[in-house]
Amino acid sequence: MNNLPVVNNKLRFFESFLAGLTLFAVVAMTVTGVFIHLRLSGPDLQIVRIPWWGIAKWYILDVHITQSYLAIISGALWGALAWFRKHKRDATNPLRRLTFLVAGILFGLLLARTVISDHPILVETIRATDYPSSLSPDHITLTWSGDPKTTQAIQWRTSPETSAGKLRYRLADAPGTWQEAEARNALLYSSYMANDYEIRWHTVELSGLRPDAEYVYQVQDLDGWTEERRFRTAPDGPEAFSFMYIGDSQEGLLEYGELLEKAQERHPDARFYLHAGDLVNRGCERDDWDLFFHASRNVFDQYPIVPTIGNHDDCPGFDPRYYSAFLALPRDGSPARPPGQSYALHYGDALFVVLNSNIAVREQAPWLEEQLRDSTATWKFVLWHHPTYVSKKHRDNAEVHQYWTPILERYNVDIAFQGHDHAYMRTKSIREEAFMERLEDGVIYLVSVSGNKFYELLDRDYMEVAIADLATYQVIDIDGDSLHYRAFDMEGNLVDAFHLNK
Ligand SMILES: [Fe+2]
Repeated sequence: MNNLPVVNNKLRFFESFLAGLTLFAVVAMTVTGVFIHLRLSGPDLQIVRIPWWGIAKWYILDVHITQSYLAIISGALWGALAWFRKHKRDATNPLRRLTFLVAGILFGLLLARTVISDHPILVETIRATDYPSSLSPDHITLTWSGDPKTTQAIQWRTSPETSAGKLRYRLADAPGTWQEAEARNALLYSSYMANDYEIRWHTVELSGLRPDAEYVYQVQDLDGWTEERRFRTAPDGPEAFSFMYIGDSQEGLLEYGELLEKAQERHPDARFYLHAGDLVNRGCERDDWDLFFHASRNVFDQYPIVPTIGNHDDCPGFDPRYYSAFLALPRDGSPARPPGQSYALHYGDALFVVLNSNIAVREQAPWLEEQLRDSTATWKFVLWHHPTYVSKKHRDNAEVHQYWTPILERYNVDIAFQGHDHAYMRTKSIREEAFMERLEDGVIYLVSVSGNKFYELLDRDYMEVAIADLATYQVIDIDGDSLHYRAFDMEGNLVDAFHLNK
């Protein structure tokens, strides 16, 4: 034995290091293997909620497989080194070898931590909904895809197993005169959803309705019909009415839902809700939309939402598939954008022109001009997401300003409803960058937010009212030549108001 050569010290330490790494990999592989066996039997995409690590089964399987490879590779290297020194005397210090073994274990831990933290996108991409669909209809939502005087679009969700759907409706003052309408439906599949990855979305577009009338409707349910809900068609001509305007809901959707319900309770006569875009934070992720429709369910089932598309509702590089699927909107807007992304609605003696400020701003300008030029409405409003006059630092929507503002001024638009800057802001009345003494002589630009994400405010001379860190809803009352605008916070405090008289 004493004749055997002494082993090379450095290789011996490396051997200890590999032993530590192998030990780590075998223990980690065993723990994740047992965890998978005990907790993750079932469907392929099952999700596991770990407080700091919301992950899906296949991601843990990936981790498990990676650990297995690590155990095999480091174990093989360890074995090779041990074989290499098998006829050599081991004269290294046992304490130093132990240090290298511990270093191997720590290296394994560091490796695991790096792999996990380097893949946040993978972890975040796996989504789960807290509001899964069922056989019964939910998320019942009203929009307009045609003339608000004579049409009403009604949409709802079910699980895919509910293959067909219909609704029945009647004039509120004519009991027993139900008419039925079949819904068309589409299956929406989300490959990254860990649960409820497919839903069915049903759409009915009622037409030939009586203007200025209240209707009752019910959606087909498993054993009959859902509870009675109501909607109201637009008046046939000029008539006093109120509508609401809300800004980005995007983040804090449950708080937004609370604000929306309070707005509706306090102002039940408002006929519809303008939404300035960024309905959700992740337009490509269905679970965000589930939360949005859940939060809005007690309002938009009886009061139509009139939305514009925000940058967060879009899917960068893809079509805004959920925005388009979930919201039936007029399809005859600017040829520069796909149907539903720009449209015009007439309600009473008011015109509402909605544009997509995410893209193709210059290309939508001719259509905007056409709508305003051809309108004889007393009140003219526009709705888009990116503010013409910004309230947040380092923002400048130059194209919107350059191509759309002159058109608004040329055709005497009264108010531009906008969002995106996550604050409350009303400009002075502006024409050709000058501030008008009479509010009616220029255009008033508004920014507001209904969720709980807020940005710092700029200080600019064009601001008449600017409030940071406040979610608000706005009520606009129109009566002939008079317009009354009010903004309220969650508690119902009046935070801004003005009058316009033609
Ligand atoms: Fe935005």
